Amino acid sequence: MLRSAARPNAIARRSAIVRLRALCAPALPREGSMGTHFRNSPSSHPLGVPKRIERVVAKGEWVNPTHNHVWSEEELDKVLSTQPRHQPETFAERVVNSTLKGVYWMFNKVTGYRAADPTPDSVAFRLIFLESIAGVPGMIAAQHRHFRSLRHMDRDYGWIHTLLEEAENERMHLLTFMKTFPPGPVTRSIVFVTQFGFAAIFASMYILSPRVAHRTVGYIEEMAVVTYCNVIDIMRTPGTQLHTAWGSMPAPEIAKTYWRLREDADMLEVFKQIAADETNHRDVNHTFASMARTDPNPYVGKHHKDANQCHTFWHEKATEGKDVDYLMNPVQRPKTAAS
Ligand SMILES: [Fe+2]
Ligand SMILES: [Fe+2]
Repeated sequence: MLRSAARPNAIARRSAIVRLRALCAPALPREGSMGTHFRNSPSSHPLGVPKRIERVVAKGEWVNPTHNHVWSEEELDKVLSTQPRHQPETFAERVVNSTLKGVYWMFNKVTGYRAADPTPDSVAFRLIFLESIAGVPGMIAAQHRHFRSLRHMDRDYGWIHTLLEEAENERMHLLTFMKTFPPGPVTRSIVFVTQFGFAAIFASMYILSPRVAHRTVGYIEEMAVVTYCNVIDIMRTPGTQLHTAWGSMPAPEIAKTYWRLREDADMLEVFKQIAADETNHRDVNHTFASMARTDPNPYVGKHHKDANQCHTFWHEKATEGKDVDYLMNPVQRPKTAAS
C-alpha cells in the first residue's frame, strides 16, 4: 500500500527533473526555426525562390514599388517660382512658427551655413541631417491614424497612403544624398540620437493635436523649400563653392530610377525634383492641418494618376526597346520566326 502510494510521487519527481534538464540544456535549433536562414545557407530554396536579385547585388538599384510623382519641366517652373508662406493664425501656430524660426537660426549658426555661398560640407551635413528627420512625421502620422482606425473600427478617409508616401519620399531623399555625400561617424551618431528625441516629440504632438502637428510639418517644409531653392540658385551661379563642387556632378543611379530621369541626368535635376517634392509636402501638410479628421483626403486621385504614370513608364521601358524590367534586369524576349 505504502509502495504503491509512493510510486506516483517518484514518477512526478522524475518527470519534473527531466523537464528541468530540458530547460537548462543549450537550445538546439530546430530545422526551419532557429537554423541559418536559407538566404545565408548553401542550400537552395525548396520552392525555387531566388536568394538574391543579381542586378540589385551588382548595382544596388531596383524600381521602388511605391509610386512617387515625377515633376515635368513645366511643373518644376511653376512650383519653384513662388514660395508661399502660411501666416500663423492661432496661438499654437504662432508659438510653433516662432520656435521653428529660432531653431532654424540656431541650426544655421551651429553648422556654419552661410546662405550666400555655403560650403559643400555644410550643405551636405544639412541635407543628410534634415532628411533623416523629415522622414519621421509622415510615418508617425500614418501609424497613428492606422491604429486609430483599427482601435475604433472606423475609416481613415484615405489619409494614410499620402502620409506613408511622404515618409518614403523623404527616405528616398536621404538615400540619394547618402550616395552622393556619404556621412562620417559623427553625422551618423548625431542622426541616430536625434531621431529618438524628435520622434518622441512629434508622436506626443500628434496625439495632442494632429492639426498643430501637420501645421508644424508645413512650416518645416516651407523652410526646406527655401533651402533647396537657394541651393539650386547657388549651384547655377559660377564662382560659388557649390557650383564648383556639384555643378557637373552626375545623378546617382538611385535618383535616376526613382525620379525616372535620363541616363545623363545631373545632380541639379535631382535637386529640382527634391525641391518640388518639398513643395508638395508643404501643401499637403498645410491642407491636412486645415481639415477635420473625417474629411476625405483630396490627394487620392493624384496617387492613382502617379501610379498609372509609373506603371506606364516601366511597362514601356520593358516592352518598347529599352529592355529593362522593374528589377532593372534585361528583358528576355521570345525569339521570333524571322530572327
Ligand atoms: Fe526631403
Ligand atoms: Fe519634405
